[in-house]
Amino acid sequence: MSLNGKVALVTGASRGIGRACALKLAGAGAAVAINYTSSEKSALEVKNEIIANGGKALCFKANVSKLDEVENMYQKIEEQLGPVEILVNNAGVTSDTLLMRMKEEQWDKVMEINLKGVFNCSKVAIKKMLKLKKGRIINITSVVGITGNAGQTNYAASKAGIIGFSKSLAKEVANRNILVNCVAPGYIQTDMTEGLSEKVKENLLSSIPVGRLGSPEDVANVVQFLTSPSSDYITGQVITVDGGMTM
Ligand SMILES: NC(=O)c1ccc[n+]([C@@H]2O[C@H](COP(=O)([O-])OP(=O)(O)OC[C@H]3O[C@@H](n4cnc5c(N)ncnc54)[C@H](OP(=O)(O)O)[C@@H]3O)[C@@H](O)[C@H]2O)c1
Repeated sequence: MSLNGKVALVTGASRGIGRACALKLAGAGAAVAINYTSSEKSALEVKNEIIANGGKALCFKANVSKLDEVENMYQKIEEQLGPVEILVNNAGVTSDTLLMRMKEEQWDKVMEINLKGVFNCSKVAIKKMLKLKKGRIINITSVVGITGNAGQTNYAASKAGIIGFSKSLAKEVANRNILVNCVAPGYIQTDMTEGLSEKVKENLLSSIPVGRLGSPEDVANVVQFLTSPSSDYITGQVITVDGGMTM
């Protein structure tokens, strides 16, 4: 139980990849703060599953794109669980369309949740981590932030932004024993990808060398590695979890 006594915050942990990360980190011994914005019932189910497995978890509602809500959430987490040593910035959304049809609101929404959300949560987290002289931040980006994808200029820009942000922050805090890395999933089966047409899904599957779609657990395994002592000498990296899709 390598994370015994540590507190981990996973943003967007009510569903999909965030849920898998919360379960995984709790299984490794961390007390987990489950953040969500609208799916209260699903967040409570994640909490109950962790507690049923003998772990510790609480739910915290906050829109990561709002700095005041994030600050408020951190205060409550500290009071109820203790200082956050592990932050998994996972909350994210898509709003896909070709640039020529993209509305300003679609651009703003995706950038505010995906990129400003990472800024907000990291900024608040880093304050305490600097005092503690230890911490891990894992940011969930996407292979799309590396390769680009037609119909996702907003999403790809937000995910590429996360990579630049993470490398810069990694350089700022490495000598304070705080490590910052990214995980870049490929095509993972969650609500986010559920809406894709069968044709798009078939095309994607044919481009994955290992011959299957990814599961949220495939991503959570790497997130757990990046929180463990086994990754003590890794920072500023982007680890792709995509079954070989983008090699
Ligand atoms: N699925 C993929 O193939 C894939 C590939 C590459 C990268 N990713 C990235 O992996 C992350 C998780 O994706 P997923 O597929 O698991 O998505 P998902 O199933 O749609 O879940 C998204 C999660 O983010 C939360 N969220 C959305 N907006 C939020 C906000 N403003 N504040 C706080 N939480 C918010 C949601 O909370 P509520 O339930 O309360 O709405 C939910 O828990 C995202 O950053 C995504 O970009 C996914």
